[in-house]
Amino acid sequence: MHVSTTYACTWLAALVAVANCHIDRESIVRQYNLKLNRSHPNSPLQVGNGNFAFGVDVTGLQTFLPHNTLSSWGWHNSSLPTTPNQTSIYDFTGQDWWTHGRLVNYNQPNPAEKDISQWLIANPHRINLGRVGLWFGGRNVSENDLSHKSQVLDLWEGSISSSFSLNGSQVNVRTIGSPDTDTVAVEIKSDILKTGDLGVFFDFPYASGKNKFDAPFVGLFNATSNHTTTLKSKKNSATITHTLDATSYDAVIEWESDARIRRASTATHKYVLNPNKGSDTLAFTVTFVSQATKSSGTFEEVAESAINWWCDYWATGAFVSLPTSTNSSAKELQRRIILTQYLLAVNGAGKDPTQESGLVNNGWYGKFHLEMVFWHLAHWTVWNKWDLYDRSIGVYGRFLPSSYDRAKHQGYQGARIGKMSDPSGRSAPGEINSLLIWQQPHPMWFAEMEYRKYPTQGTLQKWDKVLTGVADFMVSYAWYNQSTKVYDLGPPMYPVSENTNPNQTVNPAFELAYWRFGLDIASKWQTRLNKSVPASWTTVKDNIAPFPIQDDAYVLYEGIEEPWTGDAVSDHPGLLGLLGWLPPDPCFNLTTFQNTVHKVYATWDFANLYGWDFPLLAMAAARMGNGEQAVDWLLHPNNQVNGVGMPEGGTRVPTPYFPASAGLLLAVGMMAGGWDGLDGPIFPQDWEVEVEGFQKAM
Ligand SMILES: *[C@@H]1O[C@H](CO)[C@@H](O)[C@H](O)[C@H]1NC(C)=O
Ligand SMILES: *[C@@H]1O[C@H](CO)[C@@H](O)[C@H](O)[C@H]1NC(C)=O
Ligand SMILES: *[C@@H]1O[C@H](CO)[C@@H](O)[C@H](O)[C@H]1NC(C)=O
Ligand SMILES: *[C@@H]1O[C@H](CO)[C@@H](O)[C@H](O)[C@H]1NC(C)=O
Ligand SMILES: *[C@@H]1O[C@H](CO)[C@@H](O)[C@H](O)[C@H]1NC(C)=O
Ligand SMILES: *[C@@H]1O[C@H](CO)[C@@H](O)[C@H](O)[C@H]1NC(C)=O
Ligand SMILES: *[C@@H]1O[C@H](CO)[C@@H](O)[C@H](O)[C@H]1NC(C)=O
Ligand SMILES: *[C@@H]1O[C@H](CO)[C@@H](O)[C@H](O)[C@H]1NC(C)=O
Ligand SMILES: *[C@@H]1O[C@H](CO)[C@@H](O)[C@H](O)[C@H]1NC(C)=O
Ligand SMILES: *[C@@H]1O[C@H](CO)[C@@H](O)[C@H](O)[C@H]1NC(C)=O
Ligand SMILES: *[C@@H]1O[C@H](CO)[C@@H](O)[C@H](O)[C@H]1NC(C)=O
Ligand SMILES: *[C@@H]1O[C@H](CO)[C@@H](O)[C@H](O)[C@H]1NC(C)=O
Repeated sequence: MHVSTTYACTWLAALVAVANCHIDRESIVRQYNLKLNRSHPNSPLQVGNGNFAFGVDVTGLQTFLPHNTLSSWGWHNSSLPTTPNQTSIYDFTGQDWWTHGRLVNYNQPNPAEKDISQWLIANPHRINLGRVGLWFGGRNVSENDLSHKSQVLDLWEGSISSSFSLNGSQVNVRTIGSPDTDTVAVEIKSDILKTGDLGVFFDFPYASGKNKFDAPFVGLFNATSNHTTTLKSKKNSATITHTLDATSYDAVIEWESDARIRRASTATHKYVLNPNKGSDTLAFTVTFVSQATKSSGTFEEVAESAINWWCDYWATGAFVSLPTSTNSSAKELQRRIILTQYLLAVNGAGKDPTQESGLVNNGWYGKFHLEMVFWHLAHWTVWNKWDLYDRSIGVYGRFLPSSYDRAKHQGYQGARIGKMSDPSGRSAPGEINSLLIWQQPHPMWFAEMEYRKYPTQGTLQKWDKVLTGVADFMVSYAWYNQSTKVYDLGPPMYPVSENTNPNQTVNPAFELAYWRFGLDIASKWQTRLNKSVPASWTTVKDNIAPFPIQDDAYVLYEGIEEPWTGDAVSDHPGLLGLLGWLPPDPCFNLTTFQNTVHKVYATWDFANLYGWDFPLLAMAAARMGNGEQAVDWLLHPNNQVNGVGMPEGGTRVPTPYFPASAGLLLAVGMMAGGWDGLDGPIFPQDWEVEVEGFQKAM
């Protein structure tokens, strides 16, 4: 089988290479295969498919470290509070804030409703589906007892091969994730299997729901009395049903050789799959499902589909080859690009937008942020990986009814997109959560990129309702100021940087441009559909407040007193999104922007920056024609990417912080594929760069 799948892979790659690739992608990708000889304490190697990921230690399983098994569907609710008058989610009333002369109800924690507010923030939370590790016949083996440890993640095929020896006996483990089902396929080869002293354990944790950040490990393995597991086994398969309160799902285990499964002890949720003596191979699959379905196939069947999927992933869409043999910065950037592409296919391509820590561990209780959708998904469009983008972009349509409800509840027209979300579209209470506005025009950016690629009736229809709903909200939210005769944004609101006084924040520069951009695209959409553009859209678009400018530079918001010191320069430098992230706005002035860039460079607290700030800075530098500067930002000392390709969270968030990864690919994709007015690529002038297959940005 190994021969035939390798053949299939090479054949597919060759076909694509003949069709449209000049770069030898396979050899570049494989140069960055990860080779480890010990477990990483917090950043596991992973296999997975975007909706499901399985993190492993040096054994290729979760033997010594309980790295997580996370999915897009595994969630749990803790019991509701028992505090009087706070026992139902309908007891939560949020807070009323004055907003242009009226009280508007915001989804914010209310001190008088502390317990139910916190419950809504923490529930549902994403769960760790289970742990799968090597079992050493009851012996207490630690990682130090293993010698000759060696592990390779073959990026091109998406498989992990691990080997080590234990008391002189070699053990080989292959670990593969299915592209189609939430299945891990494992093949273990060792003489120790023949003696019955090697097997596999499965263990199931409870969900605490207590930690905003559950990193590096998710779940409680010691709260055994709070949940149940039951085992149903047949000759070559078993189903373990795990029930945590209202959440229930199955782990379906299927094996090929002669083996049996048993519960390790009634006091735990640990099960052991133990091969009968004789064979030196144990191959099995374990599939996590909310409802048991048909068989997920054998190890070899999963391996074949995974290898084909991964080769296809690498061989299609865009690719960039940097001068890695002559320049160490180019080499580091290429490393990050390749590892990031692997990690985002595993962690950032599910049915819902990506959690900031992907499927590695939990941040914000496992929820995802709708303002971050831009950073998580935009790169797929410029890299021409539309199938992966398509998996979750439907979120705007799915959440449209709740977005309409949100706007209506606050007395606005249209659909107001939420913030920190679970798959139902419910947004978690939070002061910042309820007052950010930069998530609103994202669908316009995506729709327009999609239309540039697929200028069809289908694309127009697909986005019409969402763009109309969101534009109606944006228009209704903009407030006509009688004295200045322009439309103001806020107060109260939070701009991209989340540390201003919301009651004083009005007309932030980036949001003004993004509002105009969004309304412009929504209007074009109506025109393309041969419908008339609502007059109110045009009125607001043409009369949005002017950009706030002080001393010939754009400033964070209108009237800010100290724009270049303190808090104003310590959070996301959203101002620089005016050119790079966005195409130049009709009111954009390049001289003013250059002055702004100089101010930002001279004053910003770069030690406090993290995540997508660096791609943002790089995109602005690239749009100003400075490829060297752009690369410097991407490789800035505060923008570290660890040995397995995961972006370090720094002091503010745990590792990994995937918006940094997705932002890197967006910035590189724009530098490689260009934008309207620039055919690209734009990298340091002395770099020989080869690019293929990119989609131009706006
Ligand atoms: C493990 O890998 C590291 C980094 O590549 C290397 O420095 C070290 O010598 C290796 N250790 C063993 C025991 O092979
Ligand atoms: C958690 O509770 C909320 C509110 O009752 C409900 O909408 C949601 O479906 C529940 N989720 C899970 C995973 O039980
Ligand atoms: C709960 O609500 C009832 C009815 O509004 C009220 O009389 C009672 O004081 C409340 N109890 C607490 C503990 O707030
Ligand atoms: C903003 O104003 C509201 C009243 O509308 C008040 O409750 C709130 O505390 C203020 N927030 C800040 C940060 O000043
Ligand atoms: C297993 O061995 C480790 C040291 O290798 C030790 O810390 C641990 O307590 C042992 N566990 C048991 C259950 O004996
Ligand atoms: C390795 O072999 C030694 C000597 O036979 C034995 O004492 C030890 O327990 C073995 N270690 C493991 C992890 O099996
Ligand atoms: C259970 O484990 C957690 C860490 O995972 C620890 O904080 C807690 O104290 C443990 N509880 C008990 C009852 O042992
Ligand atoms: C487990 O259940 C007990 C009894 O209901 C409860 O006191 C405890 O808080 C629960 N543990 C967790 C982690 O939820
Ligand atoms: C790599 O390229 C960058 C950008 O041109 C340049 O600044 C740097 O000196 C080069 N490094 C080496 C080692 O050539
Ligand atoms: C109208 O705009 C002016 C200038 O920006 C501002 O000072 C004033 O507060 C605004 N009016 C209201 C009622 O918000
Ligand atoms: C709009 O009208 C033009 C000209 O009549 C026609 O070619 C086009 O197909 C129409 N587009 C839509 C979306 O109906
Ligand atoms: C751009 O702003 C500068 C001042 O920063 C001004 O001198 C120039 O006239 C402006 N350009 C345009 C086209 O408005």
